[in-house]
Amino acid sequence: MKTAQRKSTRPGRPVVLVGMMGSGKTRIGRAIAKAVRLPFCDTDDIIEEQAGMSIARIFETQGEQAFRDMETAVIRDVLARGGPVRVVSTGGGAVMRPENAELIFGRTHSIWMYADIPVLLQRVGRSNDRPLLRAPDPEKVLRDMAEVRYPVYGRAGLRVDTEAGDIETIVQSVLNFVDQKEQENE
Ligand code: S3P
Repeated sequence: MKTAQRKSTRPGRPVVLVGMMGSGKTRIGRAIAKAVRLPFCDTDDIIEEQAGMSIARIFETQGEQAFRDMETAVIRDVLARGGPVRVVSTGGGAVMRPENAELIFGRTHSIWMYADIPVLLQRVGRSNDRPLLRAPDPEKVLRDMAEVRYPVYGRAGLRVDTEAGDIETIVQSVLNFVDQKEQENE
């Protein structure tokens, strides 16, 4: 017996995931890419590859501004310079530069991966890979960040609560949104 095929167009524009550290952008991004058979990339991974060192090390040796410049260059490469349509997971602070935000919110299917602060804290609060959380009170860091960032993440076309269902359900809700947008743009 044939199983019913989920309807989903292969997106004509990149699908870009934004949201806080620990919100599941990479895990969910990979699953979305697999479902629509598109390449996946994570801007943090590209930065680490190009710099030949970890993000934490870039922060330590060159500072946050240098990291943000690398991040902007990668986002430009991935979104503005053509190339294949991809599913892209971005670092939590990427949208805070207006130039990046214009590319992401203006040209892609942008999706905000949302999770409550206690959930984020549990996932990444003690992470050594997140230099911005190496602070005496990581919860306060996340709360302060959320206050500034949520209005910007809110520019995304869709907000997905990553706690509200299993990964298949999340992937499906993203693909339904993308399908609908692609049809509107036809
Ligand atoms: C950052 C998030 C990280 C990474 C860097 C800065 C941020 O990416 O880009 O540590 O400013 O929120 P993830 O969101 O993938 O953890």
